[in-house]
Amino acid sequence: MGMESFKQRLSEYAVLTENTLQQYLPEETEDVVTEAMRYSLLAGGKRLRCALALEFCLALGGNKEDVLPFACALEMVHAYSLIHDDLPCMDDDDMRRGKPSCHIAFGEANALLAGDGLLTKAFEVMVQQSKIPPERTVLAIGVLAQAIGHHGMIGGQRMDLQNEGKEVGIEVIEQTNRLKTGALIIAAAQLGCIAAGADNKMTELAKKYAEQIGLAFQITDDILDCTSSAEVLGKPIGSDAENHKTTYVSVYGLEKAMSIAAEEIQKAKDALNQMGMQERSPFLYDMADYILSRKN
Ligand code: IPE
Ligand code: IPE
Ligand code: MG
Ligand code: MG
Ligand code: MG
Repeated sequence: MGMESFKQRLSEYAVLTENTLQQYLPEETEDVVTEAMRYSLLAGGKRLRCALALEFCLALGGNKEDVLPFACALEMVHAYSLIHDDLPCMDDDDMRRGKPSCHIAFGEANALLAGDGLLTKAFEVMVQQSKIPPERTVLAIGVLAQAIGHHGMIGGQRMDLQNEGKEVGIEVIEQTNRLKTGALIIAAAQLGCIAAGADNKMTELAKKYAEQIGLAFQITDDILDCTSSAEVLGKPIGSDAENHKTTYVSVYGLEKAMSIAAEEIQKAKDALNQMGMQERSPFLYDMADYILSRKN
């Protein structure tokens, strides 16, 4: 579909999701935690996770209304993970999405609570707003919970901290990426499939695609941490080096890291081919390319 049309569609998905998020989490004056939640949730961001869920659902024959609550839940979980990731006890980063990080704007305690609030709200939304049958809603809730728990995203964040300053094998770095970043991206694809009522074969291939773009996504995130600027990225650069993070870049260098990301992207497209997505979703192919070429 070409990069311009891709960006256009991505922004349509972002607007749709953000309008719905506004409804689910309306402004409440004199409630500082709600304000902090809204500050981080509605502060922009690329909105790749909601877009993945929406696109998979539509490409597999589902409709928007069925996946929208899940798309919103994914962005809530993602925003929570960023708030906590930036805290002084974690990566200690002062800027996020081009603005002061949540704890800089609202203080640490409120940022902690805003993260907790968003995580909890995500599941409230899935229960209360779901339009699909209860069995599939429960399945989706279980998928998301498992993806972000101690054997998923949180496990990856734990490994990321444990790897700091250590020389670890590439399998450890890959597993860290797979969990801290990949797990939520895989869940996004899977929630789209569940909302559409897709069969197992399609769902497994969609997860395969998401797994590969998830790995590539974290590699390019690590590359941009070394090569971009805070203005373009909207978050501090050099954060990984400062925290002695072990990344694909610290192990392989920029060039080799990029070529590994490119291989992952090729594998992601292979999975789409197996799904017969060439005609049905050029967007997902472009999303794969975008992850390699992105500047922020
Ligand atoms: C940043 O994710 C955190 C990682 C998992 C690397 P994004 O780069 O998707 O952040 P936003 O949503 O666009 O701000
Ligand atoms: C963050 O990875 C992953 C999660 C938030 C779960 P990073 O620490 O590399 O993300 P950025 O670079 O701060 O966005
Ligand atoms: Mg981190
Ligand atoms: Mg970080
Ligand atoms: Mg990073």
